[in-house]
Amino acid sequence: MKKKPANFRYNQLRLLLVFSLATFLLSGISAADQLGSKEYKQYEKPDYCGTSCHIDFYMQWKQAMMSQSYTHHWDEIEYFELAIPHAEKDEAVAEVKEGCNGCHAPISFMVGDVPPPLPEENSRANEGVSCDFCHSVTGFEGEIPHNFNFISEPGDVKYGPRSTGESPAHEVAQSDFLASSDFCGTCHNEMSPFGIWVKSTHLEWKEGPYAAQDVRCHDCHMTYAEGTIAEMSPTYPDARQHLFHGAHDPGKVKGTIEVRIHPDISEAEPGETVKFTAALFNQKTGHKFPSGSVEDRIVWMHVEAVDADGKKYHLSVDPKGFDGEEYTIGADVLAYQDMGIALDDPNFPGVQRDGIPVGDRIFRMPYFDPQGRMTIQQWNTKSLGVDYRIGPRETKLETFTFDLPFEVASGPMTITAVVNYQKLMTPIAEFLNVPEEEAEIIVVNQHSTQIEVLP
Ligand code: HEC
Ligand code: HEC
Ligand code: HEC
Ligand code: HEC
Repeated sequence: MKKKPANFRYNQLRLLLVFSLATFLLSGISAADQLGSKEYKQYEKPDYCGTSCHIDFYMQWKQAMMSQSYTHHWDEIEYFELAIPHAEKDEAVAEVKEGCNGCHAPISFMVGDVPPPLPEENSRANEGVSCDFCHSVTGFEGEIPHNFNFISEPGDVKYGPRSTGESPAHEVAQSDFLASSDFCGTCHNEMSPFGIWVKSTHLEWKEGPYAAQDVRCHDCHMTYAEGTIAEMSPTYPDARQHLFHGAHDPGKVKGTIEVRIHPDISEAEPGETVKFTAALFNQKTGHKFPSGSVEDRIVWMHVEAVDADGKKYHLSVDPKGFDGEEYTIGADVLAYQDMGIALDDPNFPGVQRDGIPVGDRIFRMPYFDPQGRMTIQQWNTKSLGVDYRIGPRETKLETFTFDLPFEVASGPMTITAVVNYQKLMTPIAEFLNVPEEEAEIIVVNQHSTQIEVLP
């Protein structure tokens, strides 16, 4: 290989310097500078958009998490009981007192009404991610969309996919930006105060197979249907639906993973060893599974055998031996001790880490606080553990070695693999009094196989 001349390397260095200065300047403006730069009266209320003109989109949005991003019970508990008290005690995370609202109550953030009043006080923060907020975004600042680095330009012009429409209430302008996944990324990528990607749905999508094929977030979460887009509008073949269905829609989660399990032999005697292999294929998500609030989510596979007499045996997963694997196998250990900071209990022992059967395989990525303890406080995350989630279109194989007990009944034995999903781990939900629905167990998929136990 030819040696590069010195001035080439110098030019490269200079370019690098200019480039990093530019990114520094770009990331230096955006988010924080927008805080308090607007007034509430510049943004229309969702009721205004939805009561006489966009009734159908309004009803969809009302059911979506977008309209509940500030009022939802678990958001309220985490923000007011953990994040604010923590931010007030610890300079390192002080910024989240305002920052959470950049994505969860973006209008209040733009107006500088932070922390906003409690949801029960019914302030404009309750509008959450509203119609006029999204339809006034014109772009983002910096290189990577994240941490509410959107540009908000409220006014008479509402941006959307078409330039043809006419509205009696406002002007309409076409925007390529709203149609791009980068728009979603401004809130669906989050960096913690310690510089760690604690939410990376957009980045996961970007490096996966769907981005390469130009399948955007919208194509799965704002799908097209023939219909109108306002009460007086013509019918379009591709009216963008406003469902934003995700983890809070069991129907969306079900079937995300396809699971098949098979044995290595079809007949065995008591005392013999049978090895089962389960294949888990992610056929549905455009990002990893789970994604988004990964610190709260848990996906796990439970495998059970039932013999001809109905006796049940729990099969533990065979460890693969990778670094950090202990976080991906159900265990009876304590974690989340950093909640003690907000709760004013420096000796807080923590709560049960997983709340699932010991030995089950977990598909997750653990988050660690500055002391190296596992945390659900994404703002207090200084490092990440092994990423053992299931990527888009990825297949993971897991094995289960079963030494048939001598007392096992002869006849057919059925082995079932069940893949479960929880938005919030049970021990955390119970400890923080989060309503049960947030910890509901959703069966993503299941499959059974049989072997014949010989007498
Ligand atoms: C202004 C910030 C913001 C923008 C822009 C944004 N989102 Fe969201 N989105 C949120 C927040 C905050 C939540 C979580 C609400 C909650 O659970 O508290 C959310 C929730 C969701 C959910 C529901 C997830 C679940 O747990 O059920 C989906 C799906 C979603 N967004 C998709 C999108 C798509 C697609 C786009 C782009 C077209 C987008 N979002 C743009 C802030 C935003
Ligand atoms: C190929 C279809 C597809 C694409 C593309 C896609 N998603 Fe999803 N998404 C899903 C499915 C299916 C789920 C439900 C399973 C789950 O919770 O992950 C989901 C779940 C989610 C969730 C909830 C995740 C969780 O576990 O809490 C969010 C947030 C979300 N999507 C946002 C996005 C954003 C933002 C993009 C673009 C960057 C995007 N999605 C692209 C299919 C897709
Ligand atoms: C999270 C951001 C977000 C929120 C909240 C939101 N929208 Fe949209 N809206 C979009 C995006 C993105 C598109 C489509 C962009 C594309 O595909 O080009 C869109 C499209 C539209 C369109 C045009 C549909 C078409 O097919 O021409 C209308 C009308 C609309 N939205 C009205 C509303 C109303 C009314 C609300 C509140 C009830 C609302 N939006 C809430 C992001 C949002
Ligand atoms: C960069 C944008 C952003 C910031 C900043 C942000 N969030 Fe979120 N938050 C989201 C999005 C997007 C989701 C939805 C992800 C999903 O569904 O998996 C979410 C989900 C959540 C959830 C889970 C909701 C549920 O029901 O599952 C909680 C709780 C939450 N955020 C609290 C906070 C708190 C507290 C802060 C500040 C410390 C914060 N968020 C900062 C974007 C953000």
